[in-house]
Amino acid sequence: PKRVRTVHLQQFKDAGQKFSMLTAYDAEIASIFDEAGIELLLVGDSASSVMMGHSSTLPITTEEMLVFTKSVVNGANRALVVADLPFGSYEGSPAQAVATGVRFMKEAGAQAVKIEGGAAMADHVHALVSAGIPVIAHIGFTPQAEHALGGYRVQGRGESAQALIDDALALEAAGAFCVLMEMVPAELATQVDRALRVPTIGIGAGNGTTGQVLVWQDMLGLGSGRVPRFVKQYANLREVVSQAAAQYRSDVSAGSFPAPEHTFEG
Ligand code: KIV
Ligand code: NA
Repeated sequence: PKRVRTVHLQQFKDAGQKFSMLTAYDAEIASIFDEAGIELLLVGDSASSVMMGHSSTLPITTEEMLVFTKSVVNGANRALVVADLPFGSYEGSPAQAVATGVRFMKEAGAQAVKIEGGAAMADHVHALVSAGIPVIAHIGFTPQAEHALGGYRVQGRGESAQALIDDALALEAAGAFCVLMEMVPAELATQVDRALRVPTIGIGAGNGTTGQVLVWQDMLGLGSGRVPRFVKQYANLREVVSQAAAQYRSDVSAGSFPAPEHTFEG
C-alpha cells in the first residue's frame, strides 16, 4: 500500500473522514500499528515518561528522541512518522527549530515534526515549512509548558477560548499541515476544526476533530498509573505480560522449562 502523506490527511478532512494516530517508540510496535492501518505514528516526547521513566517530558534529549525516531521509521512502511521536537530544542529561534528539525528528517528519517506552542511559534513553523519540513502544531495543554500552565489542566475554557482559536489560525497561516489539540473542551475543538482548512487531531478534545491520538501504553493498558479520563483502554497488556512472566518463573523453578522441544541434542 502507498505511503500516507500530508496531502492524504487533507483529503480525509475534505471528504469528511477521520484518521488515527498512535504513539510508537520502537520498531516492533510501529510495525504492528502500521500493518493495522494506523495512518500516523507519533514518536512523542511522552517517551520521556513511558520509555524512560521520567516524571515529565522535559528531560528527554534530542539524541534520545533521534534513537526512538529511527526505530519507528525502521518499523513503519506505510504510516506517516511524526517526531516531537523535545523541550529546549526549538523554542529559542526559528533557526534553532530548523537545525533540530533537519536532524530528525536527515538522521532519523522522520517525515514531519511536531512542536508545542501557539501564535508565538508561528515564525518557527514558517521557517520549518520553508525548509521542507512538514509541521504539526500542538496547542491546548502542552506538556512541555506544564510548569507555566500550572499543571495538567483543560485549556481554552471561558475567556481563553478565543485565544486558542486565534493560535490555531496563526499556526495554519504559518504553514502547519495539521493542528493537534490536547485537553480542550469538545465544543471548542470542534469549532477550531471548522475554522481551519487543515485537519485537526485531538487527545482529550472530543470527537469533533479530524483525527485522534493516544499514547499506546495508555490505549493498551500497559502502565501502572492512573488512566486519564480521555483514554479508552482497548486491552490490558499489563495483566497479560505480568501473568506470562510469573508463569515463566514458575516453569523455570519447577524445571518444566525448557522442555525437550526447546532443547538441542548432541
Ligand atoms: O508526546 C506525546 O505522546 C504527545 C501526544 C500525547 C499528543 O504529544
Ligand atoms: Na509530546
